[in-house]
Amino acid sequence: MNNFSILNSIGNTPLVKLQKINPYKNIEIFVKLEFFNPSGSVKDRIVKHIIEDAEQKGLLKPGGTIVENTSGNTGAAVAMMAAIKGYKAILTMPDKVSIEKQNALKALGAEIVVTPTSAAPDSPEHYVNTAKRIASEIPGSFRIDQYDNLKNTEAHYLTTGPEIWQQTNGEVTHYVASGSTGGTISGTGKYLKEQNPKIKVYMPDPVGSIYYEYFKTGEFDIKNSSTYHVEGVGEDHIAKAMNFSIVDEMFQFTDQEAFTTARLLASQEGILGGGTGGANVWAALKLASQLNESAKIVTIIPDNGAKYLSKFYNPEWMKENGFTL
Ligand SMILES: Cc1ncc(COP(=O)(O)O)c(C=O)c1O
Repeated sequence: MNNFSILNSIGNTPLVKLQKINPYKNIEIFVKLEFFNPSGSVKDRIVKHIIEDAEQKGLLKPGGTIVENTSGNTGAAVAMMAAIKGYKAILTMPDKVSIEKQNALKALGAEIVVTPTSAAPDSPEHYVNTAKRIASEIPGSFRIDQYDNLKNTEAHYLTTGPEIWQQTNGEVTHYVASGSTGGTISGTGKYLKEQNPKIKVYMPDPVGSIYYEYFKTGEFDIKNSSTYHVEGVGEDHIAKAMNFSIVDEMFQFTDQEAFTTARLLASQEGILGGGTGGANVWAALKLASQLNESAKIVTIIPDNGAKYLSKFYNPEWMKENGFTL
């Protein structure tokens, strides 16, 4: 890779301290701005790591096809890498993914396949099953398999974790991250706990996802799951990349809490993040409200709010969907 490749700008994202919306005097809350990655999200880290590993193992050959199921951000990272490296990209996603995200993938040259959000996890129409089918039909294609590929978690263990440790001079006390594949929370949390076993890891989960029930009871009933508006976190199945043994506690959040906090982050702190960044900061503030001791909480802003201008940053959309401003 040459020194001026866009791939060199992946990672080493800024860590900034909340200045206005944190009312707790003894507690500092830091947010890691993953939208500084070139395709606009945390997913650049894992896609680079997984593709480079596949190339080294001969699983992905020059001119080959990369297939992935993605809520959009992994797709953007795949499409960007495919454009640079000369691969074809085919990306499947549920239809709740914002039009901005879908169009960004097309602009980067990828082919997209949109499936119904309501498709059950075991139905052939579900976006994961659609990606599996497409990959099986194209000889020599490579599926990123972000949910079950442990290289996903490893990417965060090797990059996000060490960056947070260095940027806080080893003083981070709590780490907060919501999860879908679980790669971000599992890899980063594992690294941080290895540096200091006293660090606590908290995971917010959207109401409607099965992760909270699974964490609390060790099992889940898919009938208790439901759809929600926040894009990119929570699940309807257990991903292999998600390691619950590093999670100390979980919080459930609503769409309203995530969107209100994201809007506050933008208007008060100048940080235009996505809905999951709002959820993470909401959870960091909730955690701060429960702590008696001083603390340095670190959380993640996984992606860029520009992808949601037609959704929760749009007052009309908020009203139409029953949310308050
Ligand atoms: C916007 C957004 N936030 C957070 C996440 C969660 O990251 P992870 O898959 O590492 O758990 C994702 C994953 O798709 C995402 O798209």
